[in-house]
Amino acid sequence: MVKKIRVALIYGGMSGEHSVSCLTAASVLKAMDPQKYEILPIGIRRDGTWVSGVSDPELLEAAGSGGDVDSSGELVLLGTGEDGRHLYTLSPTGAHSPTAELISSRTNLGSLRRESFDVAFPLLHGPFGEDGTIQGMLEMAGIPYVGSGVFASAAGMDKHYMKVVLEAAGLPVAPYVLVTAKRWRIEPDAVCAEVKERLTYPVFVKPARAGSSLGISKVNRPEELAAAIEFAQATDPKVIVEQGVEGREIECAVLGGHGDESPRASVLGEIVIDSGPGTWYDYETKYIETEGFHMEIPAVVEPGKAERIREMAVQVFEAFECEGMTRVDFFLTKEGEPIVNEHNTIPGFTAVSMYPILWEHTGLSYGALIDELISLALERPVGLR
Ligand SMILES: Nc1ncnc2c1ncn2[C@@H]1O[C@H](COP(=O)(O)OP(=O)(O)O)[C@@H](O)[C@H]1O
Ligand SMILES: [Mg+2]
Repeated sequence: MVKKIRVALIYGGMSGEHSVSCLTAASVLKAMDPQKYEILPIGIRRDGTWVSGVSDPELLEAAGSGGDVDSSGELVLLGTGEDGRHLYTLSPTGAHSPTAELISSRTNLGSLRRESFDVAFPLLHGPFGEDGTIQGMLEMAGIPYVGSGVFASAAGMDKHYMKVVLEAAGLPVAPYVLVTAKRWRIEPDAVCAEVKERLTYPVFVKPARAGSSLGISKVNRPEELAAAIEFAQATDPKVIVEQGVEGREIECAVLGGHGDESPRASVLGEIVIDSGPGTWYDYETKYIETEGFHMEIPAVVEPGKAERIREMAVQVFEAFECEGMTRVDFFLTKEGEPIVNEHNTIPGFTAVSMYPILWEHTGLSYGALIDELISLALERPVGLR
């Protein structure tokens, strides 16, 4: 019998995208072939404590609709079921310090590596998950993991440095003004004046390091700018004010190549907002009023232009030295110019999310995509590469 690959699925997390991550874990758990993999779920609770995760997709789905990684308490390992999966029971959460727990789980991760798993699969979105922090921890412990390394993750999470890298690579981005917490404290008038001089309304005000549209607002008039900046600061003290772009939202899924092969770009998808003019892809549309949009796959884009966008998506992957995967999101302006909006090193990854569906349409099923990502993670060296 072939030895199973032991995969630590890490989900939950401290960001605003905790629930989304639990749903992703449920989806991935269901799709992974139990003949091929032994799965060790590890949950990170909203307060940052680490617990043994849940193997039951239904419990995870419950966690995704508002609970914590483990729904109501800490999970205690009971034993191993007939199908080889671990069985857990819930116990009430004890009072333990998040820091102490984190430190002990870091140590555990180090020893778990040799004893319990071969590769980690972080399914975390947002800060402290998608931003290089957990990647750094895994690097320190010498553990192979799925997806981008520390730098690509950190730069991909930060909408300010993302633009710095994209611009340096000659890729087009929307103009923006950076508003650090310090600058907003010291010279808010100068910030407003700079926005007035360099951008035209509407503008989008965004927390630099967030996702799922959390903290973002569309601002139509200068009088609303200050409130929007302060609203974004509640999510991240660092904020960017960005030129509003009128255009279609086109996305491309990029998957790393094996060895020296080039990264692979999927067919294109489009996010079509159905709810009328002036609306955008906000948190509500993404997760609550999900009737308000649909995905058009493949996106109807003239073939030459589509090819150009796919090439640009690969350039983004390479500019950041991404690994494994990233989803590159574009605006296609009325003039037909693609502008890079952002890329996500851990994109939405449920079976019905854009990234897996784009690969499905390109010829790679959800299960095969997971296999690819795990094999890419296992074949690359740990440490500097
Ligand atoms: N400059 C812009 N012009 C027009 N719409 C924008 C702009 N920036 C963001 N949006 C809208 O807001 C959504 C979320 O913004 P985005 O930068 O992708 O943040 P997130 O990382 O939260 O997904 C986009 O999908 C788009 O609908
Ligand atoms: Mg986005």
